[in-house]
Amino acid sequence: MESMIKPWLVFPILLLSANYLQQSVNGKSQVPCLFIFGDSLSDGGNNNNLPANSPRSNYNPYGIDFPMGPTGRFTNGRTTIDIITQLLGFEKFIPPFANINGSDILKGVNYASGGAGIRMETYSAKGYAISLGLQLRNHRVIVSQIASQLGGIDKAQEYLNKCLYYVHIGSNDYINNYFLPQLYLSSNVYSPEQYAENLIEELSLNLQALHEIGARKYVLPGLGLLGCTPSAILTHETYGSCVEEQNDIASIFDFKLKSLVDHFNNKFSADSKFILINNTLQSTAEHSYGFSVSMAPCCPISAVGLCIRDERPCSNRREYVFWDAVHPGEAWNLLIATTSYDSSNHSGFAYPMDIKHLVEQEIEMELDFTSQLSSSS
Ligand SMILES: *[C@@H]1O[C@H](CO)[C@@H](O)[C@H](O)[C@H]1NC(C)=O
Ligand SMILES: *[C@@H]1O[C@H](CO)[C@@H](O)[C@H](O)[C@H]1NC(C)=O
Ligand SMILES: *[C@@H]1O[C@H](CO)[C@@H](O)[C@H](O)[C@H]1NC(C)=O
Repeated sequence: MESMIKPWLVFPILLLSANYLQQSVNGKSQVPCLFIFGDSLSDGGNNNNLPANSPRSNYNPYGIDFPMGPTGRFTNGRTTIDIITQLLGFEKFIPPFANINGSDILKGVNYASGGAGIRMETYSAKGYAISLGLQLRNHRVIVSQIASQLGGIDKAQEYLNKCLYYVHIGSNDYINNYFLPQLYLSSNVYSPEQYAENLIEELSLNLQALHEIGARKYVLPGLGLLGCTPSAILTHETYGSCVEEQNDIASIFDFKLKSLVDHFNNKFSADSKFILINNTLQSTAEHSYGFSVSMAPCCPISAVGLCIRDERPCSNRREYVFWDAVHPGEAWNLLIATTSYDSSNHSGFAYPMDIKHLVEQEIEMELDFTSQLSSSS
């Protein structure tokens, strides 16, 4: 492994281990388990063995800055949730559902799939992805395995109450659905307002279904500036400025997601906590964090916006916000992850609290009626 590490990678990797040691000095993670739902921004390899028309990234130069090389992560290094996983003190990344062979599912599973949306038809015109509903179905399989490991569904429930649930999804419902009127009907059928409402309703049903199988602490990142990706800018030929119309349409979703967070925090007040990650940092922030290229991809891209296999990417990767035409690079992910975890310097970035505070929240545990009955009899 050592000999594969290129000299210019040593600095970020040292940074990684220092950070990681600091957080897990007592060897114990801040939550016992983390379950991840989402799309390519969080995928850790679930698409690698899907049909060939599924979005894939398990080839060079993806993973050029990742210790294991190309794994199916859609970036050069760690994803945002990988870094959050480390900040939470986990010793290993959360394994993808597609490859839980030999891993400890009690620490969590990653169900995220590149191309996936909240709606089942999202991405279907191009290929196959594991939609949110199917990700939930996979989670039920894992929950029953956990129940058999722990000795019953009540014990599993009690355990699952302590986990963190990260659900970052919705971008593809725009990028690979609503924004492609030539391939999908949705923009004919729904106004932007109705479409966002419809997505939030379906997301809400899925979150309640998760609640029924034990989820209590939820992290819900918003979509942020979808119109500022190199792909959006290239497609719309806006030459160096964001596609504001797309930002505006996606922000309707984000505001409704914020209302949903409020709604659930009321509805489930003592029993559950939901937080929204805004995912927008003012574009002026980019320069102050050392990003000099905010609208061009680091790697040479194909027609679908992914890196071309085996082509050489830029070498100053820390200066690029974007790795390919839609996915940020590790440097940007690091900024988003650390700010999501501790947002004390960016008030409003995490609402109503950041991940660090979320994991400290006391929540009412499920009352276990069966054991109460048996102990009083
Ligand atoms: C399962 O894990 C073992 C031990 O890490 C490894 O040798 C094997 O190749 C893995 N199998 C698959 C299908 O990944
Ligand atoms: C997210 O943050 C941006 C920048 O501070 C702000 O303009 C926007 O209203 C926020 N969005 C939500 C949903 O809170
Ligand atoms: C917040 O800003 C202060 C002062 O610039 C800095 O020392 C600190 O590390 C920052 N905290 C985080 C969590 O970024």
